[in-house]
This record gives sequence, C-alpha cells and structure tokens, in this order.
Amino acid sequence: MVRFGWHPSDQNHRSAARLKLQQILFSQGFGTRRECSALIARGAVSINGVVLTRMNENDAFDTSGLVFSVSGVEWTFRSPAYLILNKPAGYECSHKPTSWPSVYELLPEPLRNRPTKSATNGVQAVGRLDQDTTGLLIFSDDGQFIHRMASPKWHVPKRYVAQCAREVSEQQLAALRAGVVLNDEPQPVRALAAESRGAHEMELTIAEGKYHQVKRMIAAVGNHVESLHRPQIGSLTLPNDLSEGDWRWLSEDELALVAPR
Ligand code: URA
Repeated sequence: MVRFGWHPSDQNHRSAARLKLQQILFSQGFGTRRECSALIARGAVSINGVVLTRMNENDAFDTSGLVFSVSGVEWTFRSPAYLILNKPAGYECSHKPTSWPSVYELLPEPLRNRPTKSATNGVQAVGRLDQDTTGLLIFSDDGQFIHRMASPKWHVPKRYVAQCAREVSEQQLAALRAGVVLNDEPQPVRALAAESRGAHEMELTIAEGKYHQVKRMIAAVGNHVESLHRPQIGSLTLPNDLSEGDWRWLSEDELALVAPR
C-alpha cells in the first residue's frame, strides 16, 4: 500500500533517531548483531577518527548525517537507502542470476546485507534492466518507494535510447506513439514520446515497465533493437560523472526528481 502523502524526503524524519552503536552497524548491513558486536570489540569501528571499543557498544549516536568507519572504510548512515547505479552491459538484475553476474555484485556488501522487512535482504533494484541494457538503475530498501515506482498508477516515465538494426522511419515512430499491440497484452501500449536521433537511433519514453517492453515495442513496428540505454527515470538523468559500474547515494533533490510529490 502506498501511504497517502508519503514522500522520500520524509527519510529525514525517519533517520534522525539516536541509535546504539551495535544497532547502527546492524541496520547498515555489517552483519548479525553478534558480528557487529565483534567488529566493535576488535576496534574496527571509529567515529570522527576515534576508535570505539566494547565499552561504547551501547552508546547512542545521532544517526542524522552520521559518518563512521568500519575497517578503515568510511560509511554514511542512511535509512532508508536510495541509490543509483550506472549499469553496464553483461549483468543480470537478479539475486539469483542464471547466465551473467548479478548487478548486486556491483554494490558493496553492506548494501546487499541490510536487514529489511521483506523476505529478501538488502537493497532491491527498482524495476529491472535486461542483461544487455545499460544506464540508470535505482536501488532502495524502502518498500513503499519500490511499490510506488512500480505502480502503474504513478506512471513514472522512463526514457530509453535504442540503436536499431534497420533505419528508423517516421511511420515507426508514429506507430509507437499511437500504440502497438504486444503479443500477450490485451491493450495496446503507447510511447509517451518517440523521436529519431539519427538514421538508426531512436529515443523512446514509456510509462510502464513490462518485460522487454522497449525491445518488443520496436519489434512490433518492424525494427530490431541492437543496443539499449536508459538515460532517465522521471526527471532524473544519469549523472555524467557516474562511470559505468559505479553507484552513489541519491540526494533528496534527486529523489524528488524521481518521485515528485
Ligand atoms: N525495455 C526492454 O526491452 N529492456 C530493458 O532492459 C528495459 C526496457
């Protein structure tokens, strides 16, 4: 259920709690409670350059903007987590990939191991990209946000750039805008926008996230996708400084571009 009035910027209210050190580590994916206690006992955890010990395990810290280090690696407390990845080709958006490495391997272990309320742990990809599709992918452990992004009710537009095997024609683009029937779908699906970007390249914006939707839509108008890239979700574009295979946290402003109020 999408909670009325919910918005990702509410995260501030949820993350501005004081938590015990062991709880902080546990919530951020650093292992079981016992493993988190062991990390503290080993002197692997520090805040502001001060190494914390077993004596500090039950000390409470303000988690808002908290930066801590585990085994020399700096972490920022985030709850819930919202992040983006520049997905390269050759990765499956699955925890149990069949033929290619999992896209989750591109994320650090604590993000994959965060405890969540759902059956699967860690952050989840918000929608999927095919193994050979590149571009903007969002991850979160916020169930309401994931649900909202997937819901047809919200129609979050997603922009794709497709390299096509055959020449892109005005008839193909017009048919995509008018709506095409995909073999197993009762209703035609239409592109919110479809434009040529060159003889063999088109840009397509769709509101849904059906299986292989762009490839199937382009096939339905007599062309064939040779490569596919997603540069935009909602009003958020893939940042130029985010290299393929890299991830980073989303700022509140960026989140608002994805899920406007
Ligand atoms: N449509 C597709 O066909 N593939 C993707 O990866 C995303 C949208």
